[in-house]
Amino acid sequence: MNEFTDQKILVVGGAGFVGSNLVRALLLASPREIVVVDNLLSAERVNIPAVPAVTFIEGSITDDKILAALGDDFDYVFHLATYHGNQSSIHDPLADHENNTLTTLKLYERLKYFKRLKKVVYSSAGCTVAEKTFAEAHATQEDAPVSLYLDSPYQISKIIGEFYSNYYFTQHGLPVVKARFQNVYGPGEILGAGQWRGTPATIWRNVTPTFIYRALKQMPLTVENGGIATRDFIYVDDIVRGLMLCATTGTPGGVYNLASGVEISILELATQINQLTGNPAPLDFRPKREWDHSGKRFGSTDKSRKELGFEAQVPFQEGLTRTIAWTRQNLPLIESCIKKHETHLPDELRAILFGAAAPLRG
Ligand SMILES: NC(=O)c1ccc[n+]([C@@H]2O[C@H](COP(=O)([O-])OP(=O)(O)OC[C@H]3O[C@@H](n4cnc5c(N)ncnc54)[C@H](O)[C@@H]3O)[C@@H](O)[C@H]2O)c1
Repeated sequence: MNEFTDQKILVVGGAGFVGSNLVRALLLASPREIVVVDNLLSAERVNIPAVPAVTFIEGSITDDKILAALGDDFDYVFHLATYHGNQSSIHDPLADHENNTLTTLKLYERLKYFKRLKKVVYSSAGCTVAEKTFAEAHATQEDAPVSLYLDSPYQISKIIGEFYSNYYFTQHGLPVVKARFQNVYGPGEILGAGQWRGTPATIWRNVTPTFIYRALKQMPLTVENGGIATRDFIYVDDIVRGLMLCATTGTPGGVYNLASGVEISILELATQINQLTGNPAPLDFRPKREWDHSGKRFGSTDKSRKELGFEAQVPFQEGLTRTIAWTRQNLPLIESCIKKHETHLPDELRAILFGAAAPLRG
């Protein structure tokens, strides 16, 4: 028994990587019902546990009919829907707006009438507030200033979600807690999940699953800008525990980093993954990505440790080992998802992934 036992919980974006891990963790508490709303834009149906306690509504949270059908009997809401990720949003800012900004606004417009909600948890992104620096990074605190010059529509949408969270809390008393994730990795992140979103980032998603997949296939890992950029990698079980603590213990209106506090360079990540998988291919060094100005960053863990009692528990090497094992076991699923996008891919990438002898398109 815990705070989620016998509760009714809405998870928007619950078919996604983090959302589906959260749903599985919540199920352990025997909730009364978990309702998942997800349009499967960057997720696979197979990620949603097929158990009686989970009700899946396929569609967008911006759909008025879906919103109207959600009654005022939820105890907790977790809002994880997003237009994944930076590069897709640069390719199609309007789709990002529709699935990353409007989603939050329309959800909150509906929730503002709900009376029994104990907490709404909004998934925000540490990359939006992190200082843009390739020099020495300092742990980003929750009250760090936010730049008006962000790198992508994705980041703009994530911070607009925080603005709306603050507005609906202040104006309507909506008990929103904002969780700023660092770079999450772990089992359940399926490369190529969902629909084509305009660039090969549909397949590659984040750096860790990309490196692991490529390493298992003995492909070279591509490392930009010498791999000097750093990230704060956090294992998905830790993020899920942090989200649940935000719901049970977080102060409404508050914001918390969910971070490991450990800074790891991309070069280090690539080297470790190559070692753990025995990938013999040498690293493929490439120039810096034009759009990406966020060099070195990691999150401060002070506030969430003090106020939520949250600390990341899974050491990096252990998390990588588990993720590699999951990827190995799930290669057929991952490859079938990658394959869905075959005809959209540039010839060079299609040849690398599928060994296509001749281009499909001229
Ligand atoms: N994974 C990370 O490293 C990371 C880092 C920072 C922040 N976040 C945030 O955490 C949340 C979850 O990220 P994730 O990595 O699980 O991504 P994900 O893409 O796996 O999950 C997002 C989910 O939202 C769904 N979705 C998209 N548009 C929707 C809509 N209109 N209505 C309903 N559902 C919709 C997608 O189909 C998907 O299931 C996101 O809000 C993301 O911005 C993630």
